[in-house]
Amino acid sequence: TEIGKPHPHESAILHVTGEATYTDDIVELQGTLHAALGLSAKAHAKLRAIDLSKVKASTGVVAVYTAADIPGENQCGAIIKDDPVLAEDLVQYVGQPIFIVIADSHDNARRAARLVVIDYEELPAVLTPRAAHAAESYVLPPMHLTRGNPAEAFDKAPHKLAGKFDVGGQEQFYLEGQISYAIPKEGRGMHVYCSTQHPSEMQHHIAEVLHVASHDVLVECRRMGGGFGGKESQSALWACAAAVAAVRLRRPVKLRADRDDDMIVTGKRHCFAYDYEIGYDDNGRIVAAKIDMVSRAGFSADLSGPVATRAVCHFDNAYYLSDVEIHAMCGKTNTQSNTAFRGFGGPQGAIAIEYILDEIARNLGKDALEVRRANFYGDSAAEGPDARNTTHYGQRVEDNVIQALVDQLESTSEYQVRRQAINVFNAENTILKRGLALTPVKFGISFNVPHLNQAGSLVHVYTDGSVLVNHGGTEMGQGLNTKVAQVVANALGLPLEQVRCTATDTSKIANTSATAASTGSDLNGKAAQDAALQIRGRLAQVAAERFGVDAGEVRFADGMVSTNAPSMASVTFEELVMQAYLKRVQLWSDGFYSTPKVHWNAKTMNGHPFFYFAYGAAVSEVVIDTLTGEWRLLRADSLYDAGESLNPAIDIGQVEGGFIQGMGWLTTEELWWNKDGKLMTHAPSTYKIPAVSDCPTDFRTQLFKNSNVSDTIHRSKATGEPPLLLPFSVFLAIRDAVSAVGEHRINPPLRAPATSEAILDAIDAVKAAA
Ligand code: MTE
Ligand code: MOS
Repeated sequence: TEIGKPHPHESAILHVTGEATYTDDIVELQGTLHAALGLSAKAHAKLRAIDLSKVKASTGVVAVYTAADIPGENQCGAIIKDDPVLAEDLVQYVGQPIFIVIADSHDNARRAARLVVIDYEELPAVLTPRAAHAAESYVLPPMHLTRGNPAEAFDKAPHKLAGKFDVGGQEQFYLEGQISYAIPKEGRGMHVYCSTQHPSEMQHHIAEVLHVASHDVLVECRRMGGGFGGKESQSALWACAAAVAAVRLRRPVKLRADRDDDMIVTGKRHCFAYDYEIGYDDNGRIVAAKIDMVSRAGFSADLSGPVATRAVCHFDNAYYLSDVEIHAMCGKTNTQSNTAFRGFGGPQGAIAIEYILDEIARNLGKDALEVRRANFYGDSAAEGPDARNTTHYGQRVEDNVIQALVDQLESTSEYQVRRQAINVFNAENTILKRGLALTPVKFGISFNVPHLNQAGSLVHVYTDGSVLVNHGGTEMGQGLNTKVAQVVANALGLPLEQVRCTATDTSKIANTSATAASTGSDLNGKAAQDAALQIRGRLAQVAAERFGVDAGEVRFADGMVSTNAPSMASVTFEELVMQAYLKRVQLWSDGFYSTPKVHWNAKTMNGHPFFYFAYGAAVSEVVIDTLTGEWRLLRADSLYDAGESLNPAIDIGQVEGGFIQGMGWLTTEELWWNKDGKLMTHAPSTYKIPAVSDCPTDFRTQLFKNSNVSDTIHRSKATGEPPLLLPFSVFLAIRDAVSAVGEHRINPPLRAPATSEAILDAIDAVKAAA
């Protein structure tokens, strides 16, 4: 079997030798032109006049297009139609595209774009979520979820606390930027190579923008150099702009964003602002919770609605909340339209409760791990076996392993021994302080919107026995194609080398969902297995006739097709395939999968949105320098529940990558807009993602032995997003170290990201209060 083997990523060698073809590496057709976007310099303004004469006269410029040149609808909104491809008379953020310049080279197009003269009539701009909330300015109606009677429970609570907390946003920082290469075909045809997590949605947008049918448009993506959610909806602008230019000029047009434009134009992870009131008992158990969450949605809705929904659904993280009230608002701001980013609001929901539990622990003088344990989902001796197993949105937690997982990690990480050692260290050192934290993760897997949970595949067996697989998922480095190929190889009893996945292509699988919500291998693995098993069924018939046995006795393994005693006959897969071909048996098949059980009522925010939960936990130990605010992660231990892992090498890679990416979000990555609403951190010179040197020297990652209770592909679990929540432990270890400055008597007001400045501010606050 190929399942559970640590195969390297199917393109690993191509990645490291530089041979892997990304969109910009595709050999350019003769006559290819290059486009650049002309961007708004104002956060909120009416466009009085646009003078493009200098742009048009610039070297190498072939054409300039504005909204008026779009043949169809000027629209690429993912859910709500509030996202123009090009601004018409109103601009709503610094960086909003207004026109497209097409030139003979990438550089000529970019140079020309800067020569525009625009007469703006400036309007007041709203820049922060708290300001949007104060003005009750939202891109969508607020969402509300209540369970139990939080007001009454709060009144009765033995202890109370109230507070505010803020977490920053995050740039996806995919290594390959946004890019589309559009090639006009005969008639109305348009072929667009696009770095996108969502080829079908790109196809639909392009069709609308060009005013053609979906069958006229083909979108193809072999791989992305990372997506991280940033290419789920926001590849649309680039795809549509390139296609408009290509259709008007009837020439191939490539639109590639350079890093600064990419960061200035596209949306990021939503920053969140929270206000909370919590009631708790002497054990630190939360008895009442009320929280307002406001996100920075940016100027349009994009995916802010579903992101907020996931934030609401992950406020519980791993904890049972009996009486709870959540209000979530998507603040409309004059900034980039924020979008998906690994975790999709889940991290923003869960970090709030982790911060709150950390406060409760300090107020009670308890270790935070003890307080977390007191709140875990799980059977309760006192309240009855099932009293603490239902989430605030009404889904029963049927696969809970959080206690066992945390117990195992507590012991393998030597949490208690290290806690003592850190206390000793902190008593002896005034300048350097150490901190430790263990945080758990429970993450719901499935799209919250039930109909998105479907996938298709196409599997071809050629007469030489080689197998070609196509599915609707996209490869962004996460190893989806490797996993799907393993599933198909396993179904046909073949070695992995005999199976290959091709580029994602809307002409092969129709109406696909985005590769997102960590569902890639769950959905496409099952769909590909369905196709492969149909082919195997037909081949088994041919073999059964050949061997003179029942089809049920035919086995497929190690490239052979065989039967047990008494006949013990066998034949190579290739030979059987050729025999089947000569008998005119269909050697290819489509496959389909839709996730069972999921349902969701968006109005009441109630239902069974997730097919299952993935679990994990991490322990981080840091040291901070209280004079400079510098810090280091000394050791991190992660334990992650990948179910029956399809590929432990890839899954461990996902856990490590997610951990470091989440650590960046909560520590060094700071987005900063100036007072005019211009994003000033738009390049790696000012925006600091973690580097190799920021990884802890002692970095231990293990998979938790578990089998999915739900019938997923080979009982595996998703690994794409949940590990991003593991480095909550880094943030709270930093907070623990800051807290040591005040001998753990004061809750440090540490904001996220915990940059060195934020750490110093928190230290000052602790010193002032001590
Ligand atoms: N891993 C790599 N290397 N590159 C990526 O862009 N995206 C993440 C995660 N892991 C990403 C990644 C995100 S946001 C998601 S939703 C999942 O992969 C999507 O893929 P999957 O569903 O196949 O896990
Ligand atoms: Mo991932 S944020 O769901 O693309």
